[in-house]
Amino acid sequence: MRKRLKETVKYIFPDCAAINVYSSFDIIGDIAITKLPVFTPENARAATAAITQRHKNIKVVFVQSSAVTGEYRVRSLSRVFGENRTCTVHKENGCQFEVDVEKCYFSPRLSHERLRVAKVVQSGETVVNMFAGVGCFSILIAKQVPTARVFSIDINPVAVQYMQRNILLNRVFGRVIPMLGDAEVLIKTQLEGLADRVLMPLPEKSLEYLHAAVSALKLQRGWLHVHTFEHATKTEDPAQKTVCRLHETLAKLNVDFEVPHVRIVRSTGPNWWHLVADVLVLNRYST
Ligand SMILES: C[S@@+](CC[C@H](N)C(=O)[O-])C[C@H]1O[C@@H](n2cnc3c(N)ncnc32)[C@H](O)[C@@H]1O
Repeated sequence: MRKRLKETVKYIFPDCAAINVYSSFDIIGDIAITKLPVFTPENARAATAAITQRHKNIKVVFVQSSAVTGEYRVRSLSRVFGENRTCTVHKENGCQFEVDVEKCYFSPRLSHERLRVAKVVQSGETVVNMFAGVGCFSILIAKQVPTARVFSIDINPVAVQYMQRNILLNRVFGRVIPMLGDAEVLIKTQLEGLADRVLMPLPEKSLEYLHAAVSALKLQRGWLHVHTFEHATKTEDPAQKTVCRLHETLAKLNVDFEVPHVRIVRSTGPNWWHLVADVLVLNRYST
């Protein structure tokens, strides 16, 4: 959930020109996470006051003190308000997700994309989620489509522990199958040729792992949901750039395919975009 912080800060501290906060922040369960242009006690106090005044349920406020980084896609957090904990339960699209916001990746900004994908899954499908985190896409799919089964992979052991708890919490045991390890290795050893659909919600690496995703698909037909990051100036179309890069990569993989839909998931900085492409693989030729 994104809210504009700047206006509230100006309202609470009308005379303090030195205070400077960014407008956006995330709410995950009862935890709020914001960034600061400069980490000073005054800025942290102002951001906390503005957040907690508008959201009375917030029990902990963190300032994000590093970029999302590393294989597990986690970030460093500095607590500036509230209880000494990093765990919470986030409610979204009728699901509950228990998560440690410091040890696992979690973004409430993917909520719309999670629902969009869950709604296109057909009954009886086998889905492979290559980069599942605490299981948000996988669990929502299983809830929306009770006859689907989802192999839900993550390399972060803590994320997989939370995924297991979330499977029980959301009563999708047996339909979401948690798997710990590298997605490429697990597909190669256990999931080749099984899937009707493969989710790749790791924009930094999805093109690098595209061959593994293709090999998880059934031979005749299947869908890939490929997340990417794209830089595009005002005169460029980020969706077009993603389609070009997909064509270049898929052309080397011996498949017939179409890219019927590409959408911007969110902006990630000036001229930077997070996109997702829906790729229909019509024939995958065995090599
Ligand atoms: C951007 S997060 C996924 C978010 C998740 N799908 C959600 O909706 O919250 C990417 C995840 O991929 C995992 N990951 C990174 N490299 C991986 C790999 N080679 N194999 C499996 N998982 C990997 C990370 O641990 C992280 O949890």
